Amino acid sequence: MIESVAQGFASKFGDADGVVVAMAPGRVNLIGEYTDFNDGFVFPMTVDSGIYIAVRARDDKTVRVASIRYDELVEYELDELETPKPGSWCSYVLGVVEELRLRGHLTHGFEAVIDGNLHLGAGLSSSAALEVATGVSMQQIARFEMDPVDMVKLCQYVEHNYANVMCGIMDQFACGIGRSGHALLLDCRSLDYENVPVELGDYRFVIVNSEVERSLALSAYNTRRAECQEAVEHFRHYDSSIRALRDVDMDLVEKHGGELPPVVHRRCRHVVAENERALAAVAALKSGSLDAFGRLMTESHRSLRDDFEVSCEQLDLLVELAHDTQGVLGSRMTGAGFGGCTVSLVQKDAVPELINRLGDYTARFNLAPGVFVLERNLEAGPVAIDYS
Ligand code: GLA
Repeated sequence: MIESVAQGFASKFGDADGVVVAMAPGRVNLIGEYTDFNDGFVFPMTVDSGIYIAVRARDDKTVRVASIRYDELVEYELDELETPKPGSWCSYVLGVVEELRLRGHLTHGFEAVIDGNLHLGAGLSSSAALEVATGVSMQQIARFEMDPVDMVKLCQYVEHNYANVMCGIMDQFACGIGRSGHALLLDCRSLDYENVPVELGDYRFVIVNSEVERSLALSAYNTRRAECQEAVEHFRHYDSSIRALRDVDMDLVEKHGGELPPVVHRRCRHVVAENERALAAVAALKSGSLDAFGRLMTESHRSLRDDFEVSCEQLDLLVELAHDTQGVLGSRMTGAGFGGCTVSLVQKDAVPELINRLGDYTARFNLAPGVFVLERNLEAGPVAIDYS
């Protein structure tokens, strides 16, 4: 990928002399879903594919950025950005560039080519990876220091203000701070984090792409946020120190949740339980209890399906088929839902059997799900070009 993005650069801009390449991987969330904007806990890990950017500084103010996947080139003068169409690939890139310029980090133009091997729009945070990769690449050409967590926050700001998606902080954090061989436990309130070693022995995390487009996701996401906020306001009548669902425990949900509209009651039941599950799952992984980790994944899926209602029949079938497979310890939808991917914890010899069972999925939905066994996850950073 590194070589091919550099070659892509050479074919767009004449040669690749002096080019640097930066990369940020996508992420899969292992557990802790829809907890980030409730100030809770998440436990994502990076995947083995990502977004690559080859970049070279210019002496003047001209910015030229090409996307190989979209076969598009945008060009403008650094100080004269016209707001790009929200959610387009260039809104993420130019949003990061513009915010770095406004903060005084970037004063000259550049040429860049973007490519990647991460599935776009599959719920593996391709947009966060694009933002983080852009930030890292700009650090390479403009040589400024920035705390990685500040870069993550800047990328989330871009997602809010250039793509109009009011996401939590999980995706940018995972893509930017996640380490190879580790998953990331993040406290979304304090932003304290811990890279937890992932030692799975004969087991692997297996990602299955439902190939369902996540068309409903955006509006449903915003509704869920509003419902969680409604629950917070309700519980504050009983305890004024409550600032987010993170501060609510199951006792309170059981005692006073019934006073809420049933839908909102279900939403907060998911979030409160999911926070507990995320912490329990991290403890299970640390103590090598993969069975327990898998069970928690499965409970997470049920809760997302029945209480938070962000699954869909395709994701549910993928999870069911995984459960029917000997050697699968747990399975759940991952990310925002309504399509995208599932993640399962699978004994590695059971992978062919799992793939075999997915035939039922194809038969029912006429979709061929992609299966990815996560062997070696990557971390964001500048990457060396091998010119040999
Ligand atoms: C999307 C958002 C994240 C998070 C998840 C759900 O991926 O970008 O911030 O809220 O959904 O856990």
